[in-house]
Amino acid sequence: MLASDPGFGLYVHWPFCLSKCPYCDFNSHVRAQVDTERWREALLRELDYYGAQTAGRNLTSVFFGGGTPSLMPPEIVAAILERLERYWSLAPDLEITLEANPTSAEAERFAAFATAGVNRLSIGVQALEDSALRFLGRQHSVAEALTAVELARRAVPRFSFDLIYARAGQTPESWSVELRQALDQGPEHLSLYQLIIEPGTQFHAALRQGELPLLEEELQAELYEATSATLAAEGLPAYEISNHARPGAECRHNLTYWRYGDYVGVGPGAHGRLTLGGEKRAIRQHRAPEVWLERVEGRGHATQADEALDAKQRLEELLMMGLRLSEPIARAAFEREAGAQPEALLEPSRLEAACAAGYLILDEQGLRAGPEGRLRLNSLLSWLLASADRP
Ligand SMILES: C[S@@+](CC[C@H](N)C(=O)[O-])C[C@H]1O[C@@H](n2cnc3c(N)ncnc32)[C@H](O)[C@@H]1O
Ligand code: SF4
Repeated sequence: MLASDPGFGLYVHWPFCLSKCPYCDFNSHVRAQVDTERWREALLRELDYYGAQTAGRNLTSVFFGGGTPSLMPPEIVAAILERLERYWSLAPDLEITLEANPTSAEAERFAAFATAGVNRLSIGVQALEDSALRFLGRQHSVAEALTAVELARRAVPRFSFDLIYARAGQTPESWSVELRQALDQGPEHLSLYQLIIEPGTQFHAALRQGELPLLEEELQAELYEATSATLAAEGLPAYEISNHARPGAECRHNLTYWRYGDYVGVGPGAHGRLTLGGEKRAIRQHRAPEVWLERVEGRGHATQADEALDAKQRLEELLMMGLRLSEPIARAAFEREAGAQPEALLEPSRLEAACAAGYLILDEQGLRAGPEGRLRLNSLLSWLLASADRP
């Protein structure tokens, strides 16, 4: 997949987890029982609905996200993958990722997922200290996480794992030991997220009660910089704010999001971006699992929102996604989405000031954020876009 072609992906959301982690605001739910036969049929029906609308396109990636898709029966994963060719041609290097939790029961199924067609596993290791895993409310131990990484290495050609850092009590020294241990597993891709206290989570409630210790902001920034430097020195530079890979080992599915390509989203709360009839549409499915299931069974899909994006909205989304990456947003992408070059789309004095400060870099290839700009992307964007009503 070339940077000039953002690719076309399919996202499938499995919304169930064994327990709710105290930091997590993803669309994830704990249920005593899941009627897997109904879920299988409903996911296939919603896939059919969007497959028919996008038939003939070349599919470059599939991503099973959650929730915890490693709790899906592998037969459902297989049934979804068998259905793809009914609608799309499949890229020869089609990437098929499944997010997996490293509890032993789930890791035992990695081989079955591989048989179903999964060729990349993304494992939620989260920490390599048992006390930190307990703090994060995880169901697995460090030993189980390392076993899961080993099983993934044997089961699929590509794997990645996630860690959450900037936890209270971490020091540059303790984080560097943890990072070293992560790198010793020989990953070609790592997602390293700073802990965010999201509204509506247990951690947020604890913070409001004064019961959640946080790491000081200065130390958070120090750990972020140390992370970038260590990973770059190890040959896995950051290609996105939190994602590091050996060149060529980037997650192609997520690159499609960040390069503002099209993707179908099926399952509760899944989002899609589809260019249909010359318009780019923002599509979102119902979030609540039971509502989603009923809607799909009733009318073949559970779309809650479907709106055409105008040029201003497309420019905003293009910047919001693309400036996360270390590669530039190509000039051709500005033309494609907003009909002009960045110099004509953004307020000249603001663009100039952001470039002079090193927050943005504009050259013949396109526009990208410098490391300082990427660190404060949200405020940079709201400032930059405050007067960008030009398209
Ligand atoms: C959809 S989630 C989890 C997938 C899988 N269920 C798991 O827990 O391993 C994707 C990743 O986002 C990260 N994440 C979720 N909430 C976060 C938060 N509040 N702060 C930082 N990282 C977070 C975690 O590393 C997690 O693995
Ligand atoms: S972090 Fe993963 S396992 Fe935990 S609640 Fe969120 S989606 Fe579920």
